[in-house]
Amino acid sequence: MTLADTRTAPALPVRISGVGRRFPAPEGGTRVVLRDIDLDIRAGEIVALLGPSGCGKSTLLRLVSGLDRADAGELSIGGSPVAPVDQRSAVAFQEPRLLPWRTITRNVELGLPRGTAKQDGQARVAELLRLVQLDHATSLRPRQISGGMAQRASLARALARNPGVLLLDEPFGALDALTRLTMQDLLLDVHAAEPTTILLVTHDVDEALQLADRIVLLGSDDGTPGATIRRVLEVGKKRPRDRGDAQLAILRAELLSLLGVENHHPEDYLTQAIKAQRARRASATAPGT
Ligand SMILES: Nc1ncnc2c1ncn2[C@@H]1O[C@H](COP(=O)(O)OP(=O)(O)O)[C@@H](O)[C@H]1O
Ligand SMILES: [Mg+2]
Repeated sequence: MTLADTRTAPALPVRISGVGRRFPAPEGGTRVVLRDIDLDIRAGEIVALLGPSGCGKSTLLRLVSGLDRADAGELSIGGSPVAPVDQRSAVAFQEPRLLPWRTITRNVELGLPRGTAKQDGQARVAELLRLVQLDHATSLRPRQISGGMAQRASLARALARNPGVLLLDEPFGALDALTRLTMQDLLLDVHAAEPTTILLVTHDVDEALQLADRIVLLGSDDGTPGATIRRVLEVGKKRPRDRGDAQLAILRAELLSLLGVENHHPEDYLTQAIKAQRARRASATAPGT
């Protein structure tokens, strides 16, 4: 393998058409988890897959990765069918899944394509560790680093394969809120440097709004068993985005209501609080009281 092969692969489009998946039900028979999923993801696009817990997000991601097979429909990457454990995509999970006895560098090396020449591999791993800001921690072992650092190592390992498609399953789900925000910014830097196609599973509305070109809402809304795509929202804002952006607030309200969550818009809350305070003051100073 030459140095050229270890550089970033071009981003690849993903096509999901008519996809369904059912599993054996504990009570016998089968249970439909996903049905009639149609989605075209452009090369280099970031798509967030959003939906309530247990609706089939990870199942769909596994189908795209080739770790699992659909019962119905077709999945393709770059115009050809997804293969079992497809080498054109790479997955990172909520748990970083690092080998505890290996250093960070040696863990990231595990992601290199088989047959990578040693020097090329070392150069690529060093480059990725710089990109995820772990170049100061290369010889540490997983137990010596924080959760955020471990997740960055996991991201670097996934990128080492130069995937045309990067599949992320709630990659920041186990991190504290502040680290999560930092990681979101880092992911955008990574995407700018290595503009692969990203399919990101999340149940965090704000994360989806911050990162995605499009947000795909998965769920079931009629009596038919199984989840399907309920809505696709184009975010249509350049990144990086202002987390307090008014247009994003409107999309957030829409997503929360689709998810069945009561929306407490901070402005409404503030406006109401201010009005209540004024009313209290007015009645306190009113003559005759
Ligand atoms: N291999 C499997 N065998 C049986 N049931 C499964 C399997 N994988 C997932 N499921 C079921 O499919 C549903 C969706 O799971 P999952 O895709 O993990 O949801 P999400 O990621 O949205 O939380 C769950 O009810 C889960 O129990
Ligand atoms: Mg899941």
